Amino acid sequence: MAAAVNCAVSRLIFLFSVFTSSQSLFSGGETYERKLSVELNPGSPSAPPGGDLLHVRAVGGNDTLHFLFCSQGAPTLLLVHTNSSSSTVKVNWPLFVARNTSGSLRVEPESSILYSTAVVLSRLLEYDDVNDTADPTSDLFPAYKLQDFTWSRLNLSGPTALLCGSAVNFTNGSLCLQLSVFGSEGRGQFWPRLIHTANSSQLGVWLDGVLPRAARSRFLLELQATGGAYPLSRVEVHRSIDDEYTPSIFKVSQWVSSANSSSDVLGFIQWKPVAYRQSNPALENATPCRHSDPRPQTGETTAASSGLIRAFYSKPDIFGLNVSFGFPGEPFYNSTKFLSWTVLMGVGSPPVDSFSSLVVTIMAVGLGTPVILLLLGGIWVCIRKRAADSTTAYEPIN
Ligand SMILES: *[C@@H]1O[C@H](CO)[C@@H](O)[C@H](O)[C@H]1NC(C)=O
Ligand SMILES: *[C@@H]1O[C@H](CO)[C@@H](O)[C@H](O)[C@H]1NC(C)=O
Ligand SMILES: *[C@@H]1O[C@H](CO)[C@@H](O)[C@H](O)[C@H]1NC(C)=O
Ligand SMILES: *[C@@H]1O[C@H](CO)[C@@H](O)[C@H](O)[C@H]1NC(C)=O
Ligand SMILES: *[C@@H]1O[C@H](CO)[C@@H](O)[C@H](O)[C@H]1NC(C)=O
Ligand SMILES: *[C@@H]1O[C@H](CO)[C@@H](O)[C@H](O)[C@H]1NC(C)=O
Ligand SMILES: *[C@@H]1O[C@H](CO)[C@@H](O)[C@H](O)[C@H]1NC(C)=O
Ligand SMILES: *[C@@H]1O[C@H](CO)[C@@H](O)[C@H](O)[C@H]1NC(C)=O
Ligand SMILES: *[C@@H]1O[C@H](CO)[C@@H](O)[C@H](O)[C@H]1NC(C)=O
Ligand SMILES: *[C@@H]1O[C@H](CO)[C@@H](O)[C@H](O)[C@H]1NC(C)=O
Ligand SMILES: *[C@@H]1O[C@H](CO)[C@@H](O)[C@H](O)[C@H]1NC(C)=O
Repeated sequence: MAAAVNCAVSRLIFLFSVFTSSQSLFSGGETYERKLSVELNPGSPSAPPGGDLLHVRAVGGNDTLHFLFCSQGAPTLLLVHTNSSSSTVKVNWPLFVARNTSGSLRVEPESSILYSTAVVLSRLLEYDDVNDTADPTSDLFPAYKLQDFTWSRLNLSGPTALLCGSAVNFTNGSLCLQLSVFGSEGRGQFWPRLIHTANSSQLGVWLDGVLPRAARSRFLLELQATGGAYPLSRVEVHRSIDDEYTPSIFKVSQWVSSANSSSDVLGFIQWKPVAYRQSNPALENATPCRHSDPRPQTGETTAASSGLIRAFYSKPDIFGLNVSFGFPGEPFYNSTKFLSWTVLMGVGSPPVDSFSSLVVTIMAVGLGTPVILLLLGGIWVCIRKRAADSTTAYEPIN
């Protein structure tokens, strides 16, 4: 009997270790929290001409992330990671709004800066997809440069900021950006419901009500990014989990910068290759998107278009890529006159998708039942074996 119990106990321990290892797979370990504070146009006595500058300080245990979002020129998001919980942002406003000197925005003390990265939304491109091939290299209309848009003032609500702008030919339409900064780990409220951490911020981009220049128009968004001395030079495409959060999407794209000596990711821009054709994202209005390979850009051109890049960096290494929305056969922009896309930007390694609780429950039921049967079977085998052993023990000696 003791042997049977022993045998069953060892099986229980095995079951328990399977359970705990899957637990850590699902929950993804401990969470890191930051204290957020929001400041609009820090140090400026009045609303500066040419656009607002938002500063969100996210203070952790021994470090600070400074999120800076600015509409002086092309909208730009800059992230500066420091190893001090008391680092500050200093802006020389007259130089900053003149947009022609580097160093007009500084993070101090400079020696505390661990890493910085920035992304510029530089251009919106439109092409006439006459043959429905979704080939963005032909029949391009003149590009809309986001630096030439008329931008609204930033509309703040907590650590969320809304910025909308329009170009001359938009006719009542607008391009809007919504930045959200987070104090702890979680998931976006709407599809694609990306996972965020306290080390990342989310940027939603949507194009609403713009009059397309052709009935069969499709759009592209050009992004330019820098990671200071560590440029964002490659995009990795990973498999991702298809679950209730982003059904039918099996991939996640990560535009990363890494140190020369190691493969550690220092900063990232992450997205799922999906956009939505309606303001309430749903499976029926999902449309796939794809990106081009990152290409080196002229740093000077980018700095000339973005006030924040000019102010913070002196000679940034810039890479750019296009995200194009829609595949052949997908409805054209004209069908709903709406398109939205979401991207995450942060420092350190990008968040990895974990299973949702619904999927965990389904898996627990699906896997648990056979495991219990296995365990019961194991006990039965143990008892049978023990019975067989005792029979052998009492076998008469010839
Ligand atoms: C902060 O740094 C100090 C000394 O370097 C260390 O003892 C402490 O554990 C750190 N705190 C956190 C929250 O990382
Ligand atoms: C920057 O612009 C201001 C006014 O726009 C001009 O007076 C100044 O000379 C410029 N500085 C540089 C370094 O180009
Ligand atoms: C980090 O903090 C220490 C002490 O405050 C400082 O000497 C160092 O230069 C800082 N910067 C980096 C990048 O480690
Ligand atoms: C569209 O198809 C027509 C006929 O096949 C062809 O002549 C034309 O060049 C195509 N246009 C584009 C932009 O591919
Ligand atoms: C600011 O945003 C809120 C919700 O995000 C919206 O209700 C409000 O109308 C906006 N205000 C302006 C002036 O755009
Ligand atoms: C805007 O429309 C005008 C006239 O229709 C045209 O000349 C101009 O090129 C358009 N601008 C852009 C950026 O498409
Ligand atoms: C733009 O808005 C105005 C007023 O709201 C409206 O009269 C006009 O028809 C709109 N134009 C288009 C092209 O929708
Ligand atoms: C966020 O950054 C802090 C400080 O670098 C690090 O300790 C923590 O593990 C990071 N959290 C996540 C979820 O990446
Ligand atoms: C698309 O645009 C064309 C002209 O630009 C218009 O005639 C057509 O009705 C539009 N289609 C939809 C679905 O709005
Ligand atoms: C990384 O390597 C490239 C050439 O391989 C070099 O130009 C660059 O300065 C290096 N960056 C750093 C931060 O060491
Ligand atoms: C984006 O696409 C346009 C049009 O094809 C092209 O001119 C531009 O160079 C592309 N940008 C990048 C960064 O690849």
